[in-house]
Amino acid sequence: MHFPIDTVRAAFPALAFTDDGRPRHYFDAPAGSQVAGRVIDAMRDAMLHACANDGGAFRTSHAAGAIVDASLAGAAAFYHCAPDEIVFGLNTTSLFFQFAGLLSRDWRAGDNILLTRMDHDANVSPWLQAAEAKGVAVRWLEWDRDSFEFRYETLGELVDGRTRLVAVGQASNFLGTLNDVARVCAAARAVGAVSVVDAVQSAPHLAIDVAAIGCDLLSASAYKFFGPHAAVLFVSRALQARMPVQKVRPSANVMPTRLAPGTPSFEAQAGCLAAFEHYAWLGEVAGGAAADAPLRTRIVAGCEAIVAYETDLMRQFLAGLATVKGVTLHGIGNANRLEARVPTFTFTLAGHDSSAVAAALAARNIFAWDGYYYAWEPAGVLGLRDGPGAVRVGLSHYNSAEEVDALVAALAEIAGA
Ligand SMILES: Cc1ncc(COP(=O)(O)O)c(C=O)c1O
Repeated sequence: MHFPIDTVRAAFPALAFTDDGRPRHYFDAPAGSQVAGRVIDAMRDAMLHACANDGGAFRTSHAAGAIVDASLAGAAAFYHCAPDEIVFGLNTTSLFFQFAGLLSRDWRAGDNILLTRMDHDANVSPWLQAAEAKGVAVRWLEWDRDSFEFRYETLGELVDGRTRLVAVGQASNFLGTLNDVARVCAAARAVGAVSVVDAVQSAPHLAIDVAAIGCDLLSASAYKFFGPHAAVLFVSRALQARMPVQKVRPSANVMPTRLAPGTPSFEAQAGCLAAFEHYAWLGEVAGGAAADAPLRTRIVAGCEAIVAYETDLMRQFLAGLATVKGVTLHGIGNANRLEARVPTFTFTLAGHDSSAVAAALAARNIFAWDGYYYAWEPAGVLGLRDGPGAVRVGLSHYNSAEEVDALVAALAEIAGA
């Protein structure tokens, strides 16, 4: 089905902004996406019409309660789980720190956990610090420098009966690799370890299915998927049954309050719901889903439309990048292996400092990042952590083919200068 890029771009008010008559080209989505107009409207409405705490007898309190119920149901459709397996939080990092404290309470010396050399530090440091505090050994799942993929064949020897937790990212914010997290979670399950998936960089690009992944915890951050600064955490019922709660005495011992202490951000939850609805809308306008189909069906159709469209953009970008002088791509560059990556590309240009490249792009109103983006482990493996780092461009479903052309032309110019 044709992807209606003009209609999609019109759904993002910030894409229309210009500076001194020049358009903005947003290629910074892996750090934070642009926000769908419906999200902005929903958050404004929430602060106007639902400005009360929930649980009261009056109209605005009912409206806040309705936001809670609808956003939990929306998140359940987004992740393919039950509403009582959802917790909203400030961001993924703080949720993982919170859960590291709770999950590590009964860890003992002699236990071990498995982390990866590919993950963003949000899915490393919380577990690493908890392990250090408890005298628990830390094991590492390495990745192959040629294929940019995990050494899955080592999983069998990395986990055993003393493995308490396995934490893995679904898509790398540095390499762009899309990982077989179901395989890693199956290895964790086989030894009774808790499995944690960081879906922050996959959720903007593909349908998340916790049932198919088979994980205990999974988090994504709405500000990377066209919503507000908030994170959405899946906590399986099985894990809930064997972990401590964290609540004040007066609050109910039910989900989500037993694992989400304090008053939630109703406006952020309203914004998250609108972000889920953005995918569903895409499912209707670009994925052939019927308007009256269930929310999950429309979300999945929207994600399939995103995958197809972004695959075309990736092919175009890689073909263009191959013509740029002195490029080293740190990730999968084979056009026949695009199903193994998301459209996040990290590269260096020979003879050019990455911060200077990002500045030269910014001078052309092209927004892209340089550095190592908290990807402490993978940047360390590549020797890119302590120097000028690398340039990162992220393609999103709101980017057009013309923008990709403009990006490639700018890179060619910068590389030739
Ligand atoms: C893969 C990945 N995980 C986690 C995070 C941290 O997310 P948050 O800012 O919501 O804590 C990021 C942020 O860039 C990320 O890219």
